[in-house]
Amino acid sequence: MNPFEYREGVLYCEDVELLKVAEQAGTPCYVYSSAAVLERYRTYDEGLAGAPHRVHYAVKANGNLALLRLLAQAGAGFDIVSGGELYRVLQAGGKPGDVVFSGVGKTRDEIEYALNEGIHSFNCESEAEIGLISALAVRLGKTAAVALRVNPDVDPATHPYISTGLKENKFGIDIAEVEDVYQRAASLPGVRLTGVSCHIGSQLLDAAPLVEAARKLLALVDRLRGRGIAITELDLGGGLGVPYEPGNARPDVAAFLSGIKDLVAGKDLFLMFEPGRSIVAEAGALLARVLYRKRNGDKEFIIVDASMTDLIRPALYEAHHQILPLRQSKFGSVTADIVGPVCESGDFLAENREVANVLPGDMVAAMTAGAYGFVMASNYNARPRPCEVLVDGAEWHVVRRRESLADLVRGEE
Ligand code: LLP
Repeated sequence: MNPFEYREGVLYCEDVELLKVAEQAGTPCYVYSSAAVLERYRTYDEGLAGAPHRVHYAVKANGNLALLRLLAQAGAGFDIVSGGELYRVLQAGGKPGDVVFSGVGKTRDEIEYALNEGIHSFNCESEAEIGLISALAVRLGKTAAVALRVNPDVDPATHPYISTGLKENKFGIDIAEVEDVYQRAASLPGVRLTGVSCHIGSQLLDAAPLVEAARKLLALVDRLRGRGIAITELDLGGGLGVPYEPGNARPDVAAFLSGIKDLVAGKDLFLMFEPGRSIVAEAGALLARVLYRKRNGDKEFIIVDASMTDLIRPALYEAHHQILPLRQSKFGSVTADIVGPVCESGDFLAENREVANVLPGDMVAAMTAGAYGFVMASNYNARPRPCEVLVDGAEWHVVRRRESLADLVRGEE
């Protein structure tokens, strides 16, 4: 489903008219569709039916508590990369036993916090990290389940900033060396080597590299079992992409999962995935108000009240987000840069884009902004972060209020 659609020229999210949300909640404002989030989650969960599995939603994509609660209630587990994300999951009612802890630089405090809460497992990225987890677990009288994050040296063919599975990336342990690391770690106290994991990159529109990585990991599982290391879990990470531009291809999640199920059939492995973007990106939009129009030389600018501080993806990755008017324009279209108020030339939501010919006071939406949107927002230029709204059918609620000026200086002396 696409939760965003025009009805008689005005944009809706499910059964909520977005102009009303923009007027009542103010702008900039993130809006998420709960139905779309749940539908995407179920595509994974149902796609894996018949195979023992758990879908660990990657909290980093969007950590809003209401959204996490929705997913926890639907049965999702969570993939976290910090103590802060663990805190969010627990606040939202997620079960610690359904949490996997990924990330290349876990601190002592974060590991202790996770051990004390009793998370499911750690995805470890270096031998030194396993050593620290072992020592801390022994001290706390616990046993930590550990998977090693393997770098399978597969090219995900995505943007270099979000590609992680190549040898030259900082992530994971080289597949050529990882067997020896398992062997040495097997004798450590306080850890149980239960899994093999990988995550090769994000925004993959073609699932083939993920399948290639899965094959390499399955062969590794066989070799490890041959050495007497009883691997029971396979975590294939996240990474499937979404079409940001209308008309772009969309990976077929169900077909991909069915292929993976075939690959692991009879292998006696518990399957895990860590999708983030493909669950929440298309469920969200960022609403903004047009402040001014201006022309510099040959260039037309539409200045809006949302900026790179609210949605940094265009500035950071030259990412494409479709810009739609909340009310379809009677005045045709215009080619313009849609820019924010921040003092940086990189502060744009779209460049040289043909968009509706919107005028000051009109509202627009940056689409496909549910993933890596609010979570990457900042207070640069002392801009309060936007509010977040969750839609459910014809109802909507502010699930995080807009930051106030007082919020901006909290904690300072
Ligand atoms: N698991 C691990 C270990 C990860 O590092 C990531 C994302 C995921 C799962 C979820 O991947 P997804 O299913 O969302 O592709 N800020 C960038 C994306 C960075 C992704 C980082 N890792 C963006 O806005 O495109």
